[in-house]
Amino acid sequence: MPYDTHHVVGAFIGGIAVTYTIYELSSRLRRSDQQQSHESLAARPQYKLGIESTIGNTPLIVIKSLSEATGCTILAKCEFLNGAGNSPKDRVALSIINRAEEEGLLTPYSGDTIYEGTVGSTGISLATLSRARGYSAHIIMPSDQAHEKSDLLRKLGARVDRVTPAPIVDQSHFVNRARNLAREHTADPDRAGRGLFADQFETDANWKAHFEGTGREIFEQASAEGGGVDAFVAGAGTGGTISGCAMYLRGKLPDIRIVLADPQGSGLYNKVKHGVMFHGLEREGTRRRAQVDTVVEGIGLTRSTKNFEVGSELVDDAVKVTDDQARRMARWLCEKDGIFVGSSSSVNCKFAVYDCFAMLLGILVKYANIWYRLRCGQDSSAVGSRP
Ligand SMILES: Cc1ncc(COP(=O)(O)O)c(C=O)c1O
Repeated sequence: MPYDTHHVVGAFIGGIAVTYTIYELSSRLRRSDQQQSHESLAARPQYKLGIESTIGNTPLIVIKSLSEATGCTILAKCEFLNGAGNSPKDRVALSIINRAEEEGLLTPYSGDTIYEGTVGSTGISLATLSRARGYSAHIIMPSDQAHEKSDLLRKLGARVDRVTPAPIVDQSHFVNRARNLAREHTADPDRAGRGLFADQFETDANWKAHFEGTGREIFEQASAEGGGVDAFVAGAGTGGTISGCAMYLRGKLPDIRIVLADPQGSGLYNKVKHGVMFHGLEREGTRRRAQVDTVVEGIGLTRSTKNFEVGSELVDDAVKVTDDQARRMARWLCEKDGIFVGSSSSVNCKFAVYDCFAMLLGILVKYANIWYRLRCGQDSSAVGSRP
């Protein structure tokens, strides 16, 4: 019975984990150099070292229902299979921590604390990796975000402050608050360790994680299947994903279209389309949420960030996806494909479908034009024009 089989496998995996705990304890007694012991374990090809090793190299899957419906191959990068915080933010959190360790800004088990302003996902990745690397995590998030995320953060051992949403120019904005707390920690001689502000919106450790990881993997995976990629679709929360992937993919596939999927209430759609951030839904007195007025959490911006700016020149197009469309797409994916994802993923899928139809329409118009010219000896674009 499949039910029983799962249980047996679970117990087997648990047995191995216990074996290793004991091994590790005795090895610590024998050798003071813990790092050396880790490295020797990792040197065995069949083992991977720690939860960090489950980050990256996620599969690229065909979304069957959407591909059938559109006649295009719509692929999804399974970023929920990143094993620390189960989102693409694992790549960013790991990149930030690795860099800080290399630069001597973090020392494991010294009392160092990582501070971050986040709507949740980056915080979950940082909190998990902090546990794995010997740090504390202090997460500041706006109080209008899902409680499930702050509950999970607390279970991971992070300190969490849910703060009243405020404009970015206000020092009580969740990002400014995280930066200030990190500074205060470092300056306080009575506190153990230092404070590190992770700074996901501005640090180039963010887009570089996607340049070196997500973007490269998409190219290699698609190339291995013998296919190219016509378009890459992503939303932007910090902009790191779309910028990093766009930079890598455009370098390899000069004709690829980079498209932004933007939720309602965000200013990025207008930025891409018209060069300005403002959107009608941003009018004072009309908003239900203070930052980005949408039920979609994690994507959408009403300000410029370095991570979006660094790749913004490469973004060819944008589409606005309403909350209702995002909800419907999330339901569709769950019901038709068994893919249970959040609204930021469903926004991308909604746009991918729209983009496929737009591409097909483009091809149709092109061939209609050729057919018309062959048939009538003139360009269809001339139809209706006056002398
Ligand atoms: C759930 C979710 N999806 C997508 C994103 C967007 O990624 P990026 O910050 O790289 O633009 C975020 C960002 O926080 C997120 O939390």
